[in-house]
Amino acid sequence: MEGCNNLHSLLLFFHFSLLVFTPVIFRVTQNILLNSIIMNYLSGKHVLLGVTGGIAAYKSAELIRQLREQGAGVRVVMTRGACEFITPLTLQALSGHPVHMELLDSGAEAAMGHIELARWADVMLVAPATADFMARLVQGRADDLLAAVCLACEAPLAVAPAMNRVMWESPATRDNVSVLQDRGVRIMGPAEGPQACGETGPGRLLEPDALVSALSGLFNSGALAGCRVLVTAGPTREAIDPVRYISNRSSGRMGFAVAGAAAEAGAQVTLVSGPVSLEAPAHVERINVETAQAMYDRVLELAAGIDIFISVAAVADYRPASVAEQKIKTSTDTITLELQRNPDILAAVAALPGGPFTVGFAAETEGLESHARGKLEAKGLDMIAANEVGSQLGFETEDNALQVFWRGGSVTLARTGKNRLARQLIATLAERFTISRKRDKVVNIMEPHAKDSA
Ligand code: PMT
Repeated sequence: MEGCNNLHSLLLFFHFSLLVFTPVIFRVTQNILLNSIIMNYLSGKHVLLGVTGGIAAYKSAELIRQLREQGAGVRVVMTRGACEFITPLTLQALSGHPVHMELLDSGAEAAMGHIELARWADVMLVAPATADFMARLVQGRADDLLAAVCLACEAPLAVAPAMNRVMWESPATRDNVSVLQDRGVRIMGPAEGPQACGETGPGRLLEPDALVSALSGLFNSGALAGCRVLVTAGPTREAIDPVRYISNRSSGRMGFAVAGAAAEAGAQVTLVSGPVSLEAPAHVERINVETAQAMYDRVLELAAGIDIFISVAAVADYRPASVAEQKIKTSTDTITLELQRNPDILAAVAALPGGPFTVGFAAETEGLESHARGKLEAKGLDMIAANEVGSQLGFETEDNALQVFWRGGSVTLARTGKNRLARQLIATLAERFTISRKRDKVVNIMEPHAKDSA
């Protein structure tokens, strides 16, 4: 009987634990999953962190730690005031890079000057930002390194204010905040609560985890939410014999950046890549292939279920007509290779009945617009992104420039880092895709009427 009672209490305890702990475990798991989904948008991103002189500057240490934990690269610029509150050495140790402080430092300018820092950034965050710094930002001052970098930076700029509540609520600060917002600066916070000065109210720096998730949210535009996108990237390799092949200089950077930008825009992305030594961007499914024929096979297998196809790969147009079984001997002065045309992956996808919105790339050494428009028509594409290629252009480089063409329109995307350029391309593509979808809907609605009246 006693055993029975024990069993009964054990069961009751188990039942009670299940009732109490299941929702807790569920919430914790949900938070962990949510955090990893939201924050992973920072993986591989370059965050330039500006720290100004306020008591909350100590929080920048934890902020850097969390940003790096999410896979972001962090570089720090401190004002003189900030160095009174936290040492540059601490932030150097946490970021893994020397901290930048002086505008007129010939050594620093030679290594990574204010323009290089500005170009390096995918996003810039000033946290904490004092009332004085925001006023200087409004004026467009460039008399210290941080203000100069803010002025020279094309990447999105976010500002996390931290100050006494009366300073935050003063008309001057309110005006400055609204000018900054009108210029597209993201204001993150402040939070409300007890302040270092003993008062309570708005003006506290957002906590590092809130800043990290707000920052990561900047990379998730949602412009392609719910879309399935297929991207090709990199070169292909066409075997000559067991150890030699024909290929090209594509590093895969442009295609990987496009896949990453599409994922940031909320799309479900599959990347079919030739042989490159790059990590797949966050939230992107990667499939590795080697030859043009293998890329063709995988892409055509996947093409039926997708909404958008973006062909960034530098596919070899030809392959050796036959592959030698053994290593070819160097017995003659000259050798002739017979080449055979590879299938055109992009044209094949564009020709699929009811196929996806199809975007090509054009790598040109001359006549950029005429050749790109020629490919747009010949391959039956919806859009084409053309880049000049050659020495230090397009292939293998960290940055690139694109001219994007479609029937009846075009846009020029100026030279910048491939990641930022890819985001701009995806924004243009999302706009064209939405327009074409609306047009298709109108045609679908019109067609039954046409039949009715027949
Ligand atoms: O990888 P990176 O080092 O970052 O360099 C980026 C890049 C220069 C390779 C990239 O920006 C680029 O221009 N990619 C397209 C290269 C190319 O093959 O261009 P093309 O003009 O030869 O081909 C036109 C289009 O047809 C391309 O979309 C290509 O993917 C596609 N194509 C070509 C041949 C083939 N057999 N099948 C195809 O799908």
